[in-house]
Amino acid sequence: MKLSNEMRQLACGGSCGRQLGPSEKSRQWPAATFYGRRPERNVATAALTTDVAAALTSASQQDYRAAPQALAAVPELQELAACDDTDLLHLFFLVFCSQGVGMTEKVEMWIRRAGQECLALANAGSDVEMLQELGNSLVEGALEEAGHDRWFRNDVTKLSASWNAKHPGSPMSADALLTSPYFQSVHDYDELHDRYIASKQPYAQVAIQSAIEQLSLVLGAPMIARVRALLGDAFLPQLTFLHHHVVLDVTHAAESAELRDKFVEANPRLEPQFAEATFGVLDVYGRFLGECWNKAKKMRAALVLE
Ligand SMILES: [Fe+2]
Ligand SMILES: [Fe+2]
Repeated sequence: MKLSNEMRQLACGGSCGRQLGPSEKSRQWPAATFYGRRPERNVATAALTTDVAAALTSASQQDYRAAPQALAAVPELQELAACDDTDLLHLFFLVFCSQGVGMTEKVEMWIRRAGQECLALANAGSDVEMLQELGNSLVEGALEEAGHDRWFRNDVTKLSASWNAKHPGSPMSADALLTSPYFQSVHDYDELHDRYIASKQPYAQVAIQSAIEQLSLVLGAPMIARVRALLGDAFLPQLTFLHHHVVLDVTHAAESAELRDKFVEANPRLEPQFAEATFGVLDVYGRFLGECWNKAKKMRAALVLE
């Protein structure tokens, strides 16, 4: 399936090309006027977006359920998967975890709000039973995703400490990492969720979270295996978020996929919407991982390590 213009708009938040506003230099989430003040996507990110889109377009609309696997073909992510430079991997995890705070701190709220919107739609009278089941499931399941940003913050603290013990001449500051501005893709991820919650398709949340949970298994599990092989099991307690999700999301991904498929089976006309949400969120998450990887490579290139 080709990414439609609407999908590209959705993935970039419909605001590509706008200038950076002063408040975006901090990590604070912008207020309600955020939509008019998006940083312009830089050339490197635009090129990466093409790679992500190319990987995703290799999946057909019928295969949107398997689209998370397609992301493994993105060149930046292949580089990451094959990386055997332990310092570069360490830097990648520092960037991934510090930026990941912005990908997770609102997850509980997004899921709850999407569920509440499904229940409101049910009350308005369409597809009542299915929307009620989905809405209740999202509202009840939201708590399971609470506080995962804290895992990321703790991981940054531990990863910085172990980096500094290994490279005292090139120290990393956990505070500086945890206050550095969020990447464009982190803002896009936030906007994509808000956009769906505010749309007439809040039920697409189940496709969004199903795709991301599947991604934990498709990309996360091999990454944990690689860390074990290159850095040893002793490194894993610094990767609480990643390690826990590879374990937890086996169940979460199965439950979300079951709910999504049940909903689509009862409403086949909604399948294109679920496909669009899946490709949209994977495009953003693929760019997020690519931005983390490219930032880590730049940091590595700037360091002369002892
Ligand atoms: Fe989570
Ligand atoms: Fe999960």
